[in-house]
Amino acid sequence: MNREVETLEARRARLASGLKAEERIRTAFAKVPRHLFLPDQIWPKVVGEPLDRRTDPEGWADHAYADAPVITQVNEGARKSVNVPTSSSSAPSVMAAMLEAAGSRTGHRVLEIGTGTGFNAALLCELVGVQGRVVTVEVDPVVITRARHCLEANGYAPTVLRADGRDGHPAEAPYDSVIATCAVVRVPRAWIEQTRAGGVIVLPWAPGVTLPGGMMARLVVDPSTGRAEGRFIGEADFMSLRQQRNRRGAPPGPDATVDRAWRISGDARDLVLGGAGPQLALMNPGIAMGFQTQPDQGSGCVWLAATDSPSWVRLHSDGRVEQGGPDRLGEQVLASHELWRDQGSPALTEYGLTVDASGEHRVWLREPSGPSWVQSGHR
Ligand SMILES: C[S@@+](CC[C@H](N)C(=O)[O-])C[C@H]1O[C@@H](n2cnc3c(N)ncnc32)[C@H](O)[C@@H]1O
Repeated sequence: MNREVETLEARRARLASGLKAEERIRTAFAKVPRHLFLPDQIWPKVVGEPLDRRTDPEGWADHAYADAPVITQVNEGARKSVNVPTSSSSAPSVMAAMLEAAGSRTGHRVLEIGTGTGFNAALLCELVGVQGRVVTVEVDPVVITRARHCLEANGYAPTVLRADGRDGHPAEAPYDSVIATCAVVRVPRAWIEQTRAGGVIVLPWAPGVTLPGGMMARLVVDPSTGRAEGRFIGEADFMSLRQQRNRRGAPPGPDATVDRAWRISGDARDLVLGGAGPQLALMNPGIAMGFQTQPDQGSGCVWLAATDSPSWVRLHSDGRVEQGGPDRLGEQVLASHELWRDQGSPALTEYGLTVDASGEHRVWLREPSGPSWVQSGHR
C-alpha cells in the first residue's frame, strides 16, 4: 500500500466518522472510497483551469475528502471562457442527509436521478445490499461512461442507464424511493407514478431562484390521491436537471433606471440574507438573486430580478432600497418579508409542498391545510 492511498484512507475515515448521520450511513461512507469515483481533473473554484491530480495530488486529495461538493465537469465537457458546472459529486453531508431522508435500507429498490460520478449509487448499493436494487439514470454520455466504469471497477452492479431522468425507469418500478441529485423546477409525474404507496421522493426543488439555491423536499407518495406531499428538510444548492434549467434573471446594469428609492432601518440585504431567503423565494417564485459590487459604493448589494419581466430591486447595506420595472419588486419583497414576520418568522422546514395528480405544485405553511399558494414555476 503506497503512502498516498494510506493518506486517502485516513481522510476517508475522518470524513465518515464526522458525518452527522445514522450509523449505517456513516458505515457506507467509510466503506466506499470517494476518491475512486472522482476524475483527475476537478474545478474547486469553478472559474479557470481545473485542478489536476497529476500535478497537485495533495490538493486533489484535500478536495476528495472535504465535506464539500467537487465539480467534476463544466460546460457539458466543452472548454469555454466562463465555466458553468454541469456535473459534480455533492457534499457528503448533503448526500448523507438525502440518504437518511429517503430511508434507504436493506432490501430497498431505489431510483437515483443523476448518476454523476457514481459515488452516490455505490453508497446506495451498500445500503440496500444484495436483496435490494439500485437504478441510476444519467443524461450525459461521457459522465455515465466514467461512472459505469468506476462502479464496475469497485464491485458495484446497479442498473446504470443513459436516459432523460425525467422519465424515471418504469421497467424496474415500483421504487421505495426516488433520489434526485439535480434540482427540478417541476416534479416529473413519472417519479410519482413509479414510487410505491408510502414511498419517498427526495429532491432539490429550485422554483426559479439562483440565490439562495433551492430547498430539499421530502415527499411521500399516496397513489389513492395521486399526490406527493411533504416538508422541506433544508436548503439545497444543486445544479439543475438539464431540461429544466432556471431562467436567469439578469442583474440590473449600472445605468438601470431607478423608479423608486427609499430607505429602511438596518441593512436592507438582511431581508434576504438574514435567514428568510429561501422562504422569500418560496413566496416569490420566478425571482433570481445575486450579489453585485458597485464601484462607487464600497460594500456590495443584493439584487433580485424577475425572470420574466425587466423588474429588479437592489438592497444596500445602509438600508437603501432601489427598484425599477413594472413589478415593484422592492415593495413585493418587503410585503413578503412582513407577512413572513407576521406568521411568526417560520423556518424553511415549516413549509411543505404538495404536487397533485394534475401537476399543480402547492406550497403550504405548517400543514397542507394551512396558508398555501400555487407555484406556477416554469418548464
Ligand atoms: C450533482 S450531479 C450528480 C451527483 C451524483 N449523484 C454523484 O454521486 O456523483 C447531477 C447530475 O445530474 C445529471 N443530469 C442533469 N439532467 C439530467 C437528466 N435530465 N437526467 C439524468 N441526469 C441528469 C448531470 O449530468 C449531473 O451528472
